[in-house]
This record gives sequence, C-alpha cells and structure tokens, in this order.
Amino acid sequence: MKTLLITGGAGQIGLELGRLDWGPGVHIVAPARAALDIASAADVTAFFARTRFDAVINAAAYTAVDKAEDEAALAFAVNALGPACLADACRAQAIPLIHLSTDYVFAGDKDTPYTEDDPTRPLGVYGASKLAGEWAVRAAAPRHVILRTAWLVSAHRSNFLKTMRRLSRERAAIDVVADQIGSPTSAADVAAAVKAIALAHLADGEAPPGTYHMVNAGAASWRDLAQAIFDLDGSAAVARAITTADYPTRARRPAQSRLATAKIERDFGITPRPWRAAVADIVAELRANETVGAS
Ligand SMILES: NC(=O)c1ccc[n+]([C@@H]2O[C@H](COP(=O)([O-])OP(=O)(O)OC[C@H]3O[C@@H](n4cnc5c(N)ncnc54)[C@H](OP(=O)(O)O)[C@@H]3O)[C@@H](O)[C@H]2O)c1
Repeated sequence: MKTLLITGGAGQIGLELGRLDWGPGVHIVAPARAALDIASAADVTAFFARTRFDAVINAAAYTAVDKAEDEAALAFAVNALGPACLADACRAQAIPLIHLSTDYVFAGDKDTPYTEDDPTRPLGVYGASKLAGEWAVRAAAPRHVILRTAWLVSAHRSNFLKTMRRLSRERAAIDVVADQIGSPTSAADVAAAVKAIALAHLADGEAPPGTYHMVNAGAASWRDLAQAIFDLDGSAAVARAITTADYPTRARRPAQSRLATAKIERDFGITPRPWRAAVADIVAELRANETVGAS
C-alpha cells in the first residue's frame, strides 16, 4: 500500500484529486488547513514524523491574485515557504513532490504559447510568490514535478465560470475583458494529469522529474470563455468585449499566458482535450446538481 499526502484537499484541484479512484493500492491522506498548515515548518515536521508517506502532492496555495498585492507576507508564506517546508520533508524521506504552479510566473509579452524553458518574469506578488515556491522545490527536492496550470475552472469554490453563470442570471449583457488571452483549464483534467504523474513516480523511481505545463487545448480571452459558458448553459446572455484598461484590478495580469503542453504529452502521454469540451462538462455538472437540488 502506498500512502499519498495531498495538501489543499479542499481547493479546486484538491477536491478533484479526492474524487478520483486511486485504486486499492493507494491510501490518500488529505488534511484540512487546520490540521496541516504548510507554511509552518513545525506543523510539516510533526505531520511527517507521524506518518511515512510515499509521495506528496501540493495543491495548497494562496490564490487571491489581487489581495496578494497587499498581503505579500502571507502570499510568500503559503506559496514559497510552504513548498520549501514540503520539499525539505520530501528530500529527507527521498520521496517525490508534485507541486502545482501557475502561468502568472510569466510576463505575458510572448506571441506564442510559453514553454517550460521560457524566462519567467511575474507581474505581481502572487506570481512572484509562486515563482519563489518553484525555486524552493527545485532547490530542495530532487524528485520533484512542478506542474504549471492556468485559468482554472470547476464546479467548486468560486471561480470565473461560476461567477459568469451567476451574472448571466442577473443581466442580459456582461462586460468581459477581451485583451487577455490564456488557456482555460478544468481542475478535473489537471487532477487526472497529477494522478497519472503521481502513479508514474510511485511505480518508477526513474520517472521524469522537472517542470511541466498542463492546460486544456486551445486559447481564449476571458470574453470568449464567458460567451462559451453562456452558450453551453443555454443562456441568451451576451459577453461584451472590454479592455483591461476598462476593468482595472489591483494586480497586473499577463496579456498572453497560453502554455505549451508538448512536453507533458511527450514524457507522460497526456494529451489535453479542448477547453470547450472541459467547460461543457463542468456546466453540465452544475446544471445536474441544480436539478437534483430542485427535486
Ligand atoms: N485558480 C486558478 O485559476 C489557478 C491558475 C493557475 C495555477 N493555479 C495553481 O493551482 C493550484 C491549486 O489552485 P486552486 O484553484 O485549486 O486553489 P484554491 O481553490 O484556492 O485552494 C487552495 C487550497 O489551499 C489551502 N490552503 C491555503 N493556505 C494553506 C496553508 N497555509 N496550509 C494548507 N493549506 C492551505 C486552502 O485552504 P482553505 O480551504 O482553508 O481555504 C484551499 O483548500 C495552486 O498551486 C494554484 O497556484 C491556480
């Protein structure tokens, strides 16, 4: 039996990891934040002293991009010190660490999708804290996989898809930023990729380490994504294009942060499906939940 620690089990990716069938040979331990604060070296040390893990998936993070501009200490504690603590523990036990990261490590000034080797230059505190986390993992945990993803949507917690569905029930037209282009991605699809990578590393100490990108295929602006959500939801709402300048936010965001996925396809045989198909599944899940709730 292999024992797998999943941090951030109540987050978008964490919940999807918990829904997967890991098979009879894997035992999942997914503590809530109250039971394991990854930013506390003492907590992490005590947790690893109690249980012998075979691999760790770090899906915990501080993800409030705008708030991070005013909470740098907290963002860096969770997104940089946290991964550093986990990386220390993983190195001490010689076990693999699979760590989630973000497209916001990039500046967004490239015309084509970012590859894993492209230079990073985060525009805000959140991206900087996540980049620091990547470096901590690389420096301390030799058996690591850093999986960068982007623009996550799911049926859980609050995210762009759920916000747009709510707004489409309140208004006929919604203004949405059309000059930021990215890779909309299902948290469930990322979780499936994380599972495949984790199982590969549990089965084979020589499975490839390193940095990988995992997003759904294709690109979209936030406006494109909003319109697809409305259409798939059977809503007549219209997503009206506005610019980033029309919708100022506390944190700057990359204008173009598509991620290239050729490396994960080559090394792990993971071929991401188009983002629209993934979004359709989430809209269908939310609609099904509402039907059950109403009956
Ligand atoms: N969301 C996106 O669009 C996006 C895009 C690119 C990359 N990513 C990356 O993908 C990963 C997962 O993101 P997500 O959207 O699933 O995150 P999420 O829904 O915000 O969930 C984050 C989880 O981390 C937990 N957490 C926060 N601080 C913690 C701490 N100090 N110790 C232990 N747990 C802590 C939270 O606990 P509570 O449940 O108590 O809040 C929550 O369960 C992160 O690495 C994120 O940077 C996300």
